[in-house]
Amino acid sequence: MSEPMLWRCPLCGGALTVQPAGGLRCEKNHCFDRAKEGYWNLLPVQAKHAKQPGDTKEMVAARRAFLSAGYYAPFGRALAELCLNAPARGEVLHLLDAGCGEGWYDRAVADAFAAANRPVQLAGFDIAKPAVRMAAKALPGMQYAVASSFGIPMADGWADVVLNIFSPMARQEFLRVLRPGGRLIYAVPGPRHLFGMKQVLYQNPYENPVQPVEYEGFRQIGEVAVADTITVPQQHTAALFAMTPYYWKTPRDGAERLAACESLQTEIEFRFVVYEKL
Ligand SMILES: C[S@@+](CC[C@H](N)C(=O)[O-])C[C@H]1O[C@@H](n2cnc3c(N)ncnc32)[C@H](O)[C@@H]1O
Ligand SMILES: [Zn+2]
Repeated sequence: MSEPMLWRCPLCGGALTVQPAGGLRCEKNHCFDRAKEGYWNLLPVQAKHAKQPGDTKEMVAARRAFLSAGYYAPFGRALAELCLNAPARGEVLHLLDAGCGEGWYDRAVADAFAAANRPVQLAGFDIAKPAVRMAAKALPGMQYAVASSFGIPMADGWADVVLNIFSPMARQEFLRVLRPGGRLIYAVPGPRHLFGMKQVLYQNPYENPVQPVEYEGFRQIGEVAVADTITVPQQHTAALFAMTPYYWKTPRDGAERLAACESLQTEIEFRFVVYEKL
């Protein structure tokens, strides 16, 4: 028997059932569509603060182009290892990727579980429809939805693990959807992350500050730092730049210097901080 629908109505929190015509409906008659790529549209109009919230189609395409070239493979492996080590409540690990983007990390995790012959139920959402569309197309076995971290359309306690890879931190919602003892894996940039790129962009680049961050309701139980040096040829530097917050705040001369580089060598460094729900 297949598992029951894991998404809940984003308007009233009621259970959703799949309709014969393919959509979802709750007891109060709120209805939601399924897109042809297989994901659900669960972002109520009231929660949309922009016509097209989240990353744009171009930003998502840049992310796909850069990530699928493999530069961040060490991050994918480290994250997959952390997920493989996380305890499941039942037989199948329930994993939720909040702000999943185009789903590159989900594919890394799914591949690692398949290789280890371990069962996992993956769910992911993002507020940007173009991101979810690409993610759902690439990993049809996963449950994807367009939704916001600040109103996750999921029942309390569903998740054994919540992933947050550079998307907004929604402490209360993450606590709500995690089971007691569940884990939040939170990626933050290490001090030297993309330092080589910042040296091209800025006269006086600075290192990212490292601050231990405590979140009420969570206890930090571990941290894994992953660092590497990558060489990015000119064909991918624009995609890398468009994935970063620097894209929005770099003066034009810095961006022009980067575009003129034949190749870019840069350190990359993530810290995966693991929290347990108290
Ligand atoms: C830096 S990207 C990271 C995407 C993905 N985790 C990755 O690492 O490839 C941040 C993502 O957060 C999404 N986002 C922004 N606000 C959000 C919200 N309120 N709820 C869910 N996702 C959101 C954006 O659309 C974008 O896809
Ligand atoms: Zn409803």
